[in-house]
Amino acid sequence: MGSVLIVGATSGIARAIAVSFARRKWDLVLAGRDTADLKCLAADLAIRFGVRTAVRAFEADAYESHHLLFEDEPWGVSLTGVIVCHGYMGSQNEAESSIKEARKVIDVNYSSYVSVLHLAASYLGERDAGFICALASVAALRGRQSNYMYGSAKAALVTFLQGLRSRMARSQVRVVTVLLGVVDTKMTYGVVRPGPLVATPERVAERVVRGIQSGRDVFYVPGFWYWIMLGIRMIPERVFKYMRL
Ligand SMILES: NC(=O)c1ccc[n+]([C@@H]2O[C@H](COP(=O)([O-])OP(=O)(O)OC[C@H]3O[C@@H](n4cnc5c(N)ncnc54)[C@H](OP(=O)(O)O)[C@@H]3O)[C@@H](O)[C@H]2O)c1
Repeated sequence: MGSVLIVGATSGIARAIAVSFARRKWDLVLAGRDTADLKCLAADLAIRFGVRTAVRAFEADAYESHHLLFEDEPWGVSLTGVIVCHGYMGSQNEAESSIKEARKVIDVNYSSYVSVLHLAASYLGERDAGFICALASVAALRGRQSNYMYGSAKAALVTFLQGLRSRMARSQVRVVTVLLGVVDTKMTYGVVRPGPLVATPERVAERVVRGIQSGRDVFYVPGFWYWIMLGIRMIPERVFKYMRL
């Protein structure tokens, strides 16, 4: 089918996305901090699905090394797609008094995405083919007192992707924004109570891969978050600012 680079591949959602692509016979390049863990995942996917897999080291704040993700092509063939998945929710309370924590949220969720996504755009742009996808969040769509640090970094990402999509629009490179609702991963463990609004990574991954393949630019996963966010965005600011969300 092709090969996809998954950045932040140890994330709960990224692992499930890797399975969804492997099931469709895509070769996988898995990039992340924990390369030992990724080698196990890569070996498992190769055996279970009969696809080629490779592992690359990725650290969000090691900007000078990001270009290596695109220079060291495995199997001597070009990548077809890039999905960027790493993320850090951080502590809203801590970020309010510590610029170090605030910067970490911004750097992991936004600045490092700028670096990787620009490199991906340049790489795929030269080949005039492929897709770039980034995992954003519905948290980007309204600043809430409980997580506006994370939400604002994701909002910057959403705007960046919109501009990048426009920049690439006359090429054959597609830029895809995924607006994720709440997903049951280590990011939300102990923070969100399981319930009907909390999706499994497997369900989310299938929707993400289908969304990319369907050619959509921006989509919500699960889809019902479109309606929830429509309601939340319609609340007037003079009322919203008093809401404990
Ligand atoms: N879960 C949700 O409810 C939800 C909702 C909306 C959007 N999202 C977004 O979806 C994406 C995946 O989320 P998830 O819930 O699957 O995440 P997760 O399971 O908590 O995993 C986070 C991932 O980010 C990586 N990471 C964190 N800091 C890093 C750094 N400095 N350098 C390199 N990698 C780093 C982690 O690597 P290690 O394994 O090495 O720690 C891990 O792979 C994120 O962008 C997240 O913001 C998630």
